Amino acid sequence: MHCRGPSAKRVAEPKEHGVHRLMNSAPLCHVAGVGHCLPNQPISNAALIERYGLASTPEWIESRTGIQQRYFVEAGQTTATLATAAAQHALTQAHLSPMAIGAVLVATCTPDYTFPSVATLVQAALGVPAGTVALDVNAACSGFIAALSMTQGLFATRPALQHILVIGAETFSNVLDFTDRSTCVLFGDGAGAVVLTRNQPGETRGLLVVEQGADGTQAPLLHSGHGVARGGIAGTVQMQGAAVFKHAVRQMGDRAATAALLAQSGYTLAGLDWLVPHQANARILEAAAEALQIPPYKVITTVGQHANTSAASIPLALSHAQQQGQLKAGQLLLLQAFGAGFTWGMASLIW
Ligand SMILES: CC(C)(COP(=O)(O)OP(=O)(O)OC[C@H]1O[C@@H](n2cnc3c(N)ncnc32)[C@H](O)[C@@H]1OP(=O)(O)O)[C@@H](O)C(=O)NCCC(=O)NCCS
Repeated sequence: MHCRGPSAKRVAEPKEHGVHRLMNSAPLCHVAGVGHCLPNQPISNAALIERYGLASTPEWIESRTGIQQRYFVEAGQTTATLATAAAQHALTQAHLSPMAIGAVLVATCTPDYTFPSVATLVQAALGVPAGTVALDVNAACSGFIAALSMTQGLFATRPALQHILVIGAETFSNVLDFTDRSTCVLFGDGAGAVVLTRNQPGETRGLLVVEQGADGTQAPLLHSGHGVARGGIAGTVQMQGAAVFKHAVRQMGDRAATAALLAQSGYTLAGLDWLVPHQANARILEAAAEALQIPPYKVITTVGQHANTSAASIPLALSHAQQQGQLKAGQLLLLQAFGAGFTWGMASLIW
């Protein structure tokens, strides 16, 4: 057997990251490659304001959100083309051919088509063999964590599966109301991808614990207004910003839940090297990190460059942080997301 499942025995392990680590399960897989794709040209706050005649200022946008620029797709670019390019970079980094991939999961809520899924478009574009699992996951901005969680089941139940592509990809520019200054300044397009590779026996790096939650009673606070069964068009972002802000900080700043997940992973908050949160708003990230008592220098923050790219924001942030040389082998990461639904999730990971 290549790996141990979640029921493996708790074993005390040596001190790592300054904390005593209790190992309750060996990770099933690790990140073998990461990549991203952004549309060609960044659009500054000033350019966005001018393009859409918004009653706003670059200073207002940056001071309330931390966002300095975002990327929007141009003609010929779609969620699937961004996802495919991000996946190609991740495969190159992992030194893998698409032929080696056994499953393609794409987290998105802005798919090219209602059906088929973006994942099948990516599968075809990359040349991933027919017969592999390929499907989309829609948990809005928490989608990447939801997809990560699904990989644990796939690795646990399919012994022949060696590599899974997990992609977060969005073209939110397609669902923005450019007459609504309180939402259209917040979002951007992009894609990030990771290749997860099955661990060999004894390998201790990789995905440790993933948790998710949802509260559908909060759906009216952040939704698309329309959809296939409600008007037949995709709709645009409808959001009660201040209320969403408060919920996001409360959820992402939940110290007890975060500490519990890390404890289940065998660590404490003090042992964390990087918090990689969903990039919604720099003020949300700062407030949540403060509530978690995590110093700002341990928080990967890319919202200034990419804006909120929904399900793409965490893999984009991972790829960006790796390019910057911030992530080092053996470091403990906590990925953390919050989004429409509401949905949320966390994942602990040894890089
Ligand atoms: C949208 C958001 C940036 C607004 O910031 P805020 O500090 O809460 O601002 P408020 O909503 O209190 O609005 C203050 C004023 O600024 C105005 N305003 C909103 N957007 C503006 C803009 N782009 N430029 C200038 N003024 C703007 C509002 O209309 C309001 O004006 P009023 O007082 O005359 O009504 C903030 O609420 C937010 O980030 N919410 C969460 C968004 C999010 O991350 N969603 C996704 C979660 S996955």
